[in-house]
Amino acid sequence: MKSITSEVCCVALTLVVLVATWGYSECYDPLDPNGNIVVTFDILKWTDDGYVAKVTIQNYHQYRHVAKPGWRLGWSWVDDEVIWSMSGAIATQQGNCSAFKSQIPHCCKKTPVITDETPNSVLAAFAINPLGSSSSFEVIVGNLQGNSVLNKPQNLTLMAPGPGYTCSPLEDTDPTLSSVVGGRREEQVFRTWKSTCTFSSILANKTPICCVSLSTFYSHTITSCPSCSCGCRVADATTKSCIREGSSTASLVDDPDIVQCTDHMCPLQIHWHIKHNYRDQWRVKLTISNHNYVKNYSNWNMLVQHPGFSKPAISYSFNSTRLPSTGITDDVALFWGLDYYNDELLQAQDVQVGSVTSEILLSKDLESFTLSNGWAFPRRIYFNGDNCQMPLPDTFPLLPNGYKRRMPSKRMLLLLVLLYVLFCWL
Ligand SMILES: *[C@@H]1O[C@H](CO)[C@@H](O)[C@H](O)[C@H]1NC(C)=O
Ligand SMILES: *[C@@H]1O[C@H](CO)[C@@H](O)[C@H](O)[C@H]1NC(C)=O
Ligand SMILES: *[C@@H]1O[C@H](CO)[C@@H](O)[C@H](O)[C@H]1NC(C)=O
Ligand SMILES: *[C@@H]1O[C@H](CO)[C@@H](O)[C@H](O)[C@H]1NC(C)=O
Repeated sequence: MKSITSEVCCVALTLVVLVATWGYSECYDPLDPNGNIVVTFDILKWTDDGYVAKVTIQNYHQYRHVAKPGWRLGWSWVDDEVIWSMSGAIATQQGNCSAFKSQIPHCCKKTPVITDETPNSVLAAFAINPLGSSSSFEVIVGNLQGNSVLNKPQNLTLMAPGPGYTCSPLEDTDPTLSSVVGGRREEQVFRTWKSTCTFSSILANKTPICCVSLSTFYSHTITSCPSCSCGCRVADATTKSCIREGSSTASLVDDPDIVQCTDHMCPLQIHWHIKHNYRDQWRVKLTISNHNYVKNYSNWNMLVQHPGFSKPAISYSFNSTRLPSTGITDDVALFWGLDYYNDELLQAQDVQVGSVTSEILLSKDLESFTLSNGWAFPRRIYFNGDNCQMPLPDTFPLLPNGYKRRMPSKRMLLLLVLLYVLFCWL
């Protein structure tokens, strides 16, 4: 028997639960407020029937890269433009060029889609490799006889490599300058148009892709990933299929998202183990496990927010750097694999997951360091820019003398979930 009030209450609770669980999934990321991808068209010169442009794709995300098979940039022409030729990239389809006789254009499509010539046009994360974070190509645009107004390309689309980016219309900006003659002369392009493409994880993934588990040297408790972090095994609308450990995987390689069966169902699991507590230092072992059977994560990165990173830290088997953390309370460290050693996180095999691991030695700030109250556990972890699901503080391993510590906000959330279940499902 359901009354109107219980229906209304149910809707309200659903909303609250949704908002609370999607917490950091919106476009704006407080840890990387300027993260975006900027597409720049520089008009280098005019031709008889069009222009020559240099197009640059610059990734300004500190810790989100464009992985294999790389970016794809598309747009719509307003007039009858064609692409006579390109260098540094190719249009994926030529389109219908049957109207041309002497010279055949590279692409006649109204909505060309451009990709790098090399099969893996990856863009590195800016904080990891700024020199590798951009890509550019030149394009000769023509077939504009008699058009006195030059129309910018419209409706830019960017796949990097999957969906998630929304690009603003190209806008006129100050022309790009370059210094020549050993810096004694500055030259400028004819015109510069820019578009900013912002990322939204809601557009990109329907479910989270990673979760965090915890353990310590001082407790037998292993806090596993929250169950259903990335989907559930039970039969409901969002069910993902999975493979039980040890069963043969050969027949299932056609599903790119197929994972090992776990309670969390995440392709990626990050484990934080507090290993030692020395006088002036403490040691953590970080392990990333790949439960996906058909996906290798190349050039992976992991961001950890923890106040302990305000002091120097040594990472043994990962490369690392500290990121500026203006506007947030805790310090932030970024980790990635060592070249040719563990920069590729391999897919799961029949009997084991793919994994990379490193120990991290952190220096203590004796004023703030403590093993109690869950202080020594990470506040937030991102993998490749995606927020990983953290366990609730109620489930953290306890110190042997059993200090009670609970965070009311998380308890409220639990209560809400309980209420939601009571009202909506019973
Ligand atoms: C750009 O997209 C809008 C909305 O979908 C559409 O109305 C417009 O015709 C498109 N522009 C071009 C040049 O295709
Ligand atoms: C190709 O374009 C020409 C005119 O530009 C048109 O007459 C012809 O029907 C088009 N062919 C196809 C297959 O669309
Ligand atoms: C992942 O890497 C392994 C080892 O290099 C390779 O055998 C496998 O084919 C790769 N998987 C994919 C989907 O590329
Ligand atoms: C660590 O990262 C930097 C920046 O990307 C790179 O230049 C360096 O070679 C890396 N070191 C190792 C051992 O991979």
